[in-house]
Amino acid sequence: MKSLNISTIFLALAVIICISCYSVECYKIGVGRADITGPPVEVTFMGYANLKQKGKGLHLRQFARSFVVEDPSGNRVAYVSADCGMVGYGVKREVIKRLKDRYQDIYSIDNVVISGTHTHSTPGGFLMDLLYDLSILGFVPQTYEALCQGIYLSIKRATDNLQEGKIFLSKTTVLNANINRSPSSYLMNPEAERARYEFDVDKDITQLKFVNLENELIGVFHWFAVHPTSMNNTNHLVSSDNVGYASMLLEKHYNPNKLPGKGKFVGAFASTNLGDVSPNIRGPKCQKSGNNCDVLTSRCPHEEGECVASGPGKDMFESTQTIAIRLYEAGVGLLQEESGREVTGDVSFIHQTVNMTNYSASVYNPLSRKMDKIRGCLPAMGYSFAAGTTDGPGVFLFEQGETTSNPMWNALRDFIAPPTQADIDCQHPKPILLATGRAAFPYEWQPKVVPTQVLKIGDLILAGIPGEPTTMSGRRLRNAIKKSALESGGGEFDVILAGLSNLYSSYIATFEEYQAQRYEAASTLYGPHTLSIYINQYKMLTAAMMTGKSVEKGPEPPYLNDKVLSLVPGVVFDGHPIGKDFGAIKFDAKRSYTINDVVTVTFIAGNPRNNIFHEKTYLVVERKINERWKIVLTDADWDTKMHWERTSTLLGFSDIRIEWTIAPNILPGEYRIRHFGNYKYILGGIFPYEGVSRTFNVTNNAKL
Ligand SMILES: *[C@@H]1O[C@H](CO)[C@@H](O)[C@H](O)[C@H]1NC(C)=O
Ligand SMILES: *[C@@H]1O[C@H](CO)[C@@H](O)[C@H](O)[C@H]1NC(C)=O
Ligand SMILES: *[C@@H]1O[C@H](CO)[C@@H](O)[C@H](O)[C@H]1NC(C)=O
Ligand SMILES: *[C@@H]1O[C@H](CO)[C@@H](O)[C@H](O)[C@H]1NC(C)=O
Repeated sequence: MKSLNISTIFLALAVIICISCYSVECYKIGVGRADITGPPVEVTFMGYANLKQKGKGLHLRQFARSFVVEDPSGNRVAYVSADCGMVGYGVKREVIKRLKDRYQDIYSIDNVVISGTHTHSTPGGFLMDLLYDLSILGFVPQTYEALCQGIYLSIKRATDNLQEGKIFLSKTTVLNANINRSPSSYLMNPEAERARYEFDVDKDITQLKFVNLENELIGVFHWFAVHPTSMNNTNHLVSSDNVGYASMLLEKHYNPNKLPGKGKFVGAFASTNLGDVSPNIRGPKCQKSGNNCDVLTSRCPHEEGECVASGPGKDMFESTQTIAIRLYEAGVGLLQEESGREVTGDVSFIHQTVNMTNYSASVYNPLSRKMDKIRGCLPAMGYSFAAGTTDGPGVFLFEQGETTSNPMWNALRDFIAPPTQADIDCQHPKPILLATGRAAFPYEWQPKVVPTQVLKIGDLILAGIPGEPTTMSGRRLRNAIKKSALESGGGEFDVILAGLSNLYSSYIATFEEYQAQRYEAASTLYGPHTLSIYINQYKMLTAAMMTGKSVEKGPEPPYLNDKVLSLVPGVVFDGHPIGKDFGAIKFDAKRSYTINDVVTVTFIAGNPRNNIFHEKTYLVVERKINERWKIVLTDADWDTKMHWERTSTLLGFSDIRIEWTIAPNILPGEYRIRHFGNYKYILGGIFPYEGVSRTFNVTNNAKL
């Protein structure tokens, strides 16, 4: 009797295992999320390269969102979308090191893609290459550590949650969430090529849905081409911007009753060929006059102000929210339609680093209609790059007539060597502003060696691109990869480009766009053939992967961790006024509020950099229910904002002002706001403190 039972159980188990995952249609899948928020104050944001855009608080937390897929023969890949400006090779190398310490050789540089969403409102200082950390005043160890540990943790969570499941791919279009910000450059591309596309930006959104064998939705990842620059360069609150908020909305929907950043379901909106794509869909206007800017130069007559794009909202917060809601609704729409096709087939991957500066190949030249010998150039930035874009004009290293405003720039500018005639010829028609490839002091200014990488998940290809391809560059790259896969016998594939992955090397414009030398072209580092080199390289990688050939690893990008300069000072100490301890109330809440009011409470505070509270919060809004306090909102919620201000540098005093905008769905009742922080004692040591507002009422009586 007993032995029969056991064998029956075994038989049943064997049958379950068999039917559950006997074919390649079934993968092991896992998703994970972790907090990667950087120091929210005193560090310059990465993106607009505006030294003045330093963090002064927090609106939305940054998260890394990962998925891991393994096929039945044990081939595994991992993909991460991180709410940060981009990803540096130093960050990737460190994440892989931590993964190897934990999982030995399951993960390597070759099978993990890490992609930045490209939000322009998060702290910088993690890229190491000198030019990219320049506007931040150098390397910021705290930003770097926050990214490395959080990204590692998100992959660890995905790994520890691996389960059998399936993957579905679907697509839809979102018409009102992006525009081309260099339409005149786009028009340089051949007419016949443009005629194949309806719009001058990609309007489609690609979705990968992960479900387990109980048909439970465990995660969903989207790719949509748009710059997360709805928050403009006047913003000082850390924010994951439009795509970050879209991810949060999705996670709120599928993790009901969970606080932001919590809950099992993981939803992401990740970057792709967003190089020339803006979310500011009202388009560029002269700020003072409201007139249209000059199309070719994006300039305005002096008296009409700067040329800036904005919209669709009344201010940048509303614009961020509106774009986010449009993306989120498209994602949920696809999920509710249960549309899409199942992704099937084995998993594989390929990776090679390339020295762009001595790459040579023969490619078709569309202008001369002949085969050309092409080569990559030493990195250099053109003049227009200093002019910025209509998403954030005129601010990379310096503003007009303000070349001495950055102390780091002052100290270093003389170490950029002038370009040689060969550099000038190679980069033609780009007029060289900075011959960054010539500068070696004190270390590399912009990368020469870049990682190229292709992941294959069944009949889907995900290519990790170390820069920002423009719309047409992205289309050409995708088509080339698709063609290469087909021609090497792999069959029909969907191709997704993971933008800003693994390393940052600025933009990738097409050869034709390069001739117009707008911002994106001026920031295409390796000369007019940069895109052609990438197309050649990704075709080669795809073909090699399809036919099971291995490729050489390529040269190792330099290790800069022990060289990087940093001029960002640490927290010296925190002090508080006599009689008002840390956490004491400076300005309290009122006694009563109603829907749409803003509750404001100001606390005597320490410097938020003393503890960046990963997976925790600087503040909570609490509601009293049956004499107990329940957390309703945290610092990651859209409706709360934390502002920090040093009120005396000499005495180390600072304030934290918390704002809560009461949303219409807030229930009437008694509420309070608490603040958590750490202060640095003048004689050493970091200590926690907390503060609490008075209890106040929220009523739903409309104001009379
Ligand atoms: C940024 O957006 C705000 C509105 O939120 C607007 O007042 C300001 O002019 C914008 N600035 C730039 C440079 O875009
Ligand atoms: C890349 O190529 C350049 C130019 O040929 C060369 O000077 C440099 O040493 C190469 N870098 C690496 C890491 O191989
Ligand atoms: C590029 O330079 C590296 C290092 O100097 C060398 O090993 C490699 O062969 C060169 N590649 C080409 C295509 O010249
Ligand atoms: C809030 O409203 C309740 C019921 O009207 C009242 O008893 C309580 O005193 C009010 N609390 C405050 C802080 O005003």
